[in-house]
Amino acid sequence: MPKLPSPFLVLLHTHFTLLLISIPFQVNSQIPNTEELTILLNIKQELGNPPSLSSWNATSSPCDWPEITCIENSVTEISLQNKTITQKIPPTICNLKNLTSLDLSLNDIAGEFPDILNCTRLEILDLSQNLFVGPLPNDIDLLSALQYINFGANNFSGDIPPSIGRLSELQKLYLYQNEFDGTFPKEIGNLSNLEVLGLAFNEKMKPASIPVEFGKLKKLQTLWINDANLMGEIPDSLTNLTSLEILSLAINNLTGPIPSGLFSLKNLKNLYLFHNNLSGELPNSFEGRNLVELDLSANNLTGSIPEDLGELQNLQLFNLFSNQFSGKLPPSIGLMPSLTGFRVFENKLSGVLPPEIGLHSKLEAFEVSSNQFSGQLPQHLCAAGVLTGVVAFSNNLSGEVPKSLGNCSTLRTVQLHHNKFSGEIPSGIWTAFNLSSLVLSNNSFSGELPREVSCNLKNLTIGHNRFSGQIPAVVAF
Ligand SMILES: *[C@@H]1O[C@H](CO)[C@@H](O)[C@H](O)[C@H]1NC(C)=O
Ligand SMILES: *[C@@H]1O[C@H](CO)[C@@H](O)[C@H](O)[C@H]1NC(C)=O
Ligand SMILES: *[C@@H]1O[C@H](CO)[C@@H](O)[C@H](O)[C@H]1NC(C)=O
Ligand SMILES: *[C@@H]1O[C@H](CO)[C@@H](O)[C@H](O)[C@H]1NC(C)=O
Ligand SMILES: *[C@@H]1O[C@H](CO)[C@@H](O)[C@H](O)[C@H]1NC(C)=O
Ligand SMILES: *[C@@H]1O[C@H](CO)[C@@H](O)[C@H](O)[C@H]1NC(C)=O
Ligand SMILES: *[C@@H]1O[C@H](CO)[C@@H](O)[C@H](O)[C@H]1NC(C)=O
Ligand SMILES: *[C@@H]1O[C@H](CO)[C@@H](O)[C@H](O)[C@H]1NC(C)=O
Ligand SMILES: *[C@@H]1O[C@H](CO)[C@@H](O)[C@H](O)[C@H]1NC(C)=O
Ligand SMILES: *[C@@H]1O[C@H](CO)[C@@H](O)[C@H](O)[C@H]1NC(C)=O
Ligand SMILES: *[C@@H]1O[C@H](CO)[C@@H](O)[C@H](O)[C@H]1NC(C)=O
Ligand SMILES: *[C@@H]1O[C@H](CO)[C@@H](O)[C@H](O)[C@H]1NC(C)=O
Repeated sequence: MPKLPSPFLVLLHTHFTLLLISIPFQVNSQIPNTEELTILLNIKQELGNPPSLSSWNATSSPCDWPEITCIENSVTEISLQNKTITQKIPPTICNLKNLTSLDLSLNDIAGEFPDILNCTRLEILDLSQNLFVGPLPNDIDLLSALQYINFGANNFSGDIPPSIGRLSELQKLYLYQNEFDGTFPKEIGNLSNLEVLGLAFNEKMKPASIPVEFGKLKKLQTLWINDANLMGEIPDSLTNLTSLEILSLAINNLTGPIPSGLFSLKNLKNLYLFHNNLSGELPNSFEGRNLVELDLSANNLTGSIPEDLGELQNLQLFNLFSNQFSGKLPPSIGLMPSLTGFRVFENKLSGVLPPEIGLHSKLEAFEVSSNQFSGQLPQHLCAAGVLTGVVAFSNNLSGEVPKSLGNCSTLRTVQLHHNKFSGEIPSGIWTAFNLSSLVLSNNSFSGELPREVSCNLKNLTIGHNRFSGQIPAVVAF
């Protein structure tokens, strides 16, 4: 006859003690899973008994430790984020057979990739922000249940193993900010469940094109490959990424045109292609109406700014500066309801500035310098009361500075030099409390200089005008 544990015997034989023994019996079901307890205490020891793991002791259940999550009294998740761990996690961690999530982020663990390929049930593996070096294991696909990888902000090097493309459950893959020095494997394009691909800040990559295969990632919502030595053209295949919400390929050496289909991605909200060597024109019309932030600055783009850009109801950031755009601004820009930052400086734009800009949105920055704009400054730039900068120097602007700017207490910088402005400076500008830079030189401004200016003013440049009176005393700090 099999031996039953003593509480069972009592339970079977005495109705009377039922109530009493039911208490120890319940505790019984939560008694530490001693096998897992032993594994974890050994791990703690191998990690050098970090003080941050003081609650890990032999008289408690691991399921009660803050860093541990259990299901049915078995460890499923370990979160050791920011626990000042310096030692490598020992392979015995994989003896926790139900472990699905391991978070070692934000520690100081040095050395090569940890020996954890036997943890085959892992779905979440976060090694980010440590001091890991050396290559990723070629057989990383042994961790075939992985849905989330974050190896970012380490110093992993070498090639990214193509086998990573066999982790078919993967939804999020972060490999940003490492020292990888190969190329991005086209096999990543096989990850049909991938939603986020973060490969940015890998400056040591060999110059290479974006793999055409990335266009197969139908579920991809975020593609983030800034500063990773990308060159060549943006593949047309990316226009097939219909789920895409964020596309960021900035600070690379991409050339050629922006595929017009990117402007038709209906879910795209943030498009960052700044600081590349992109050329050609923007498409005249496009269907992607949900853009919130558009930054194409510091490229070699030509042609005019399309009318459709002014139709974007959600667009907040409008950065097209440092390109070769020419022609007039579409008047619709003045009516955009969400616009907060308008930066088109350093182009070849001409014509008048949109008269209503500032009236229909919370405009913070208006930067149009180094173009050939003519006519007046728009009258309502500070209508929402949040404007911090008017940067309009080196144009052919004329007329007076709008009176309304004299009531704009948020202003930090006003740069109007090298234009044909005339008339008096609205008196409130001189004394706007936050103003640190007021550059008015090379215009035809007139009127008496004020006796005092704002105490925060660090750069006041007024030469080559028709001002009269004394140089104002800059109120001391
Ligand atoms: C063991 O840790 C628990 C908390 O996890 C704590 O309440 C208990 O006092 C500790 N026991 C010893 C002997 O340190
Ligand atoms: C893993 O969990 C299952 C049920 O969730 C349990 O039956 C099994 O004993 C656990 N494995 C270990 C090694 O604890
Ligand atoms: C890490 O933990 C320390 C305290 O232990 C805390 O001050 C710090 O803010 C934490 N860092 C992060 C990024 O959570
Ligand atoms: C991984 O598991 C295999 C068998 O399951 C075992 O032979 C091997 O020693 C384990 N490796 C490590 C590093 O624990
Ligand atoms: C990576 O290496 C660079 C030097 O190449 C060093 O400056 C940086 O601190 C290292 N980062 C990490 C996370 O180890
Ligand atoms: C993965 O992608 C590569 C190249 O893109 C291809 O040759 C290979 O057949 C694919 N593998 C699987 C399992 O789909
Ligand atoms: C987009 O996907 C379709 C269907 O998968 C394919 O036939 C087409 O070639 C792809 N387009 C590009 C530009 O890669
Ligand atoms: C960019 O690529 C071109 C060739 O396509 C090359 O001539 C140029 O040096 C590269 N520039 C940088 C900054 O890498
Ligand atoms: C940009 O690309 C052109 C060729 O399209 C090349 O002549 C030029 O050197 C590139 N500029 C930079 C800064 O890489
Ligand atoms: C812009 O393109 C022209 C002609 O292709 C090229 O000569 C010039 O170097 C490019 N400018 C930059 C900044 O790359
Ligand atoms: C500048 O504007 C004046 C009129 O204010 C006009 O006569 C002149 O042609 C313009 N110059 C340029 C270079 O656009
Ligand atoms: C003031 O600003 C102008 C225009 O940006 C700049 O050229 C000049 O160097 C600045 N002067 C000082 C003292 O910072």
